[in-house]
Amino acid sequence: MDSFSGDATARARRYLRSRDASILLAPARGLHGDVMQSTRSTFLKVFGRREAFELEWRVYRRLRSAGVLAVSGFAVPSLLDADPTLGVLELSRVQPPFVLDFASVTIDQTPEQRWPDEPGRLQASWARAEEAFSAHPPAHWARVVALYEEFGRRFGVWMLDLHPGNIAFADADRSVPCPTPPRKSMGVR
Ligand SMILES: Nc1ncnc2c1ncn2[C@@H]1O[C@H](COP(=O)(O)OP(=O)(O)OP(=O)(O)O)[C@@H](O)[C@H]1O
Ligand SMILES: [Mg+2]
Repeated sequence: MDSFSGDATARARRYLRSRDASILLAPARGLHGDVMQSTRSTFLKVFGRREAFELEWRVYRRLRSAGVLAVSGFAVPSLLDADPTLGVLELSRVQPPFVLDFASVTIDQTPEQRWPDEPGRLQASWARAEEAFSAHPPAHWARVVALYEEFGRRFGVWMLDLHPGNIAFADADRSVPCPTPPRKSMGVR
């Protein structure tokens, strides 16, 4: 089966009940599932599709094995617990600047290696990512690129979904000066 059966909120309640906790804030629907806060100060990500769950779970386990709390100055949530039957990841809560959401990544190969025949799509995807940060100071884009490269180099995880919801800057960062932002190719979603 490709998808988890049952409503995401019901699965989250079931997951939390067995841990003497409950949902604190109503779920927000995301691309890959519902995200909600629990009464034990954690975030739950409740997936619709198994493939996305397995991918993100794998990345978080890899990061946990490496003892990672931050990359390139961005806090990374810690994987606290998971239930592969219910499709739930439980993560520590992070504050900006943070990076999260590893449901759209390539692992152990760059997007260019994964899709060698699709340079146009990769380029378009990279342009979309840059556009997503266009309201930010240009220096932020350089930091996003540095983060992307460090993630790939250190963990073999290449993020495909670069936007301000997944890479959040602290408000205090908004007045930093602006070097020329680098360009780079990247993957498709
Ligand atoms: N551990 C966490 N700590 C703090 N905020 C979080 C955490 N997990 C998720 N969030 C918040 O919930 C939002 C959605 O989470 P995430 O990006 O993992 O889900 P998604 O399904 O991919 O959603 P989207 O399609 O909006 O990207 C994040 O942008 C962030 O604001
Ligand atoms: Mg996201």
